[in-house]
Amino acid sequence: MSVDVPQVNLDAGPTPEVLAQLEAAFTAELADARGRADVAELQALKSRYFGPKGVVSLLLRAVGKLPPEARRDAGSSANQVKKALEGQLAEVLDALEAKAKDAELRRSRLDMTLPGRAPAPRGALHPVNRIIREMTDIFHRMGFEVAAGPEVELDWYNFEALNFPPDHPARDMQDTFFVTRPGAPSEASIRDLVLRTHTSPVQIRAMEKQGAPIRIISPGRVFRHDSDATHSPMFHQIEGLWVDEGVSLAHLKGVLSSFINAMFGERPMRLRPSFFPFVEPGVEVDMQCMLCDGAGCRLCKGTGWMEILGAGMVHPKVLANCGIDPERYTGFAFGLGVDRIAMLRWKLDELGHLFRSDVRFLSQI
Ligand code: DAH
Repeated sequence: MSVDVPQVNLDAGPTPEVLAQLEAAFTAELADARGRADVAELQALKSRYFGPKGVVSLLLRAVGKLPPEARRDAGSSANQVKKALEGQLAEVLDALEAKAKDAELRRSRLDMTLPGRAPAPRGALHPVNRIIREMTDIFHRMGFEVAAGPEVELDWYNFEALNFPPDHPARDMQDTFFVTRPGAPSEASIRDLVLRTHTSPVQIRAMEKQGAPIRIISPGRVFRHDSDATHSPMFHQIEGLWVDEGVSLAHLKGVLSSFINAMFGERPMRLRPSFFPFVEPGVEVDMQCMLCDGAGCRLCKGTGWMEILGAGMVHPKVLANCGIDPERYTGFAFGLGVDRIAMLRWKLDELGHLFRSDVRFLSQI
């Protein structure tokens, strides 16, 4: 159905008859276009009535030419009709647009619960941190708490309090990174500050602070002047310390064998006598080789055993240095290389893999 726009006598202006006619024509056209759900047709309708040359606009303009006393009523009723018609049109257009939008959304349905198409690259803990967490967990279950100490350390904590004699080779320039204090006046005075060469100084700090009994582990970075396939100038250690009345070497062995079994699966271990200035007796702890393919084994070189840590009974002098009575308390300490454990765990042939941040390596772990 098509309805003609009423021919309006503009000179007469918006008389009530004209407005009624206009309204009837518009309503019929609107119903028609709505029935076909044709947005373009509705837009055309809009411009035919309300556009600059639309009949409603012309009518309103004609108001100006009426005698002044007729203008007010004519203008207001024309405006009323205009508003009403525009309102009807907007309602129909809005409804149609909403329907179109709804249809579009239905067509391009997105299921937010589906997994992504290409898996996004995921971040992960660094292998060294993973090992540290695993080990910390194991010792935690045996009642050890985590303690921390500074990486830039005083000679007292790194060496002196740990019973290193002044001429001990570990203090040599070859091994230790010395730290210069700003404005240090002399060679001698710079030697009291070092990058810690092991995590053992944390024992001293913890005992000083907490006294006995004490049961701590301390993971952290350590630094030595050394670099090849199995050594890096920065590496990681975990220190352990348990001091209480009646702690013996048997406790040390029990704790370490529980640790080895938790970390690597049931595996024999053995203690060998060794020397560290801060323990007496000192031992080195081996566990049975986990790769062993006989004489040529690259991990144990055919011995069947791999050294994994140093340990011993805390030297009475060390206890005394921390204000703990060595007559009453005994304890054991141990220190192990985290990176070495990581190498064993993932059968790495070179330490450097752990520190180069190469994603091709890291994503395989
Ligand atoms: N601090 C030693 C090192 O870096 C390792 C160590 C040995 C720690 C024996 C200990 C210990 O606590 O009792 O080589």
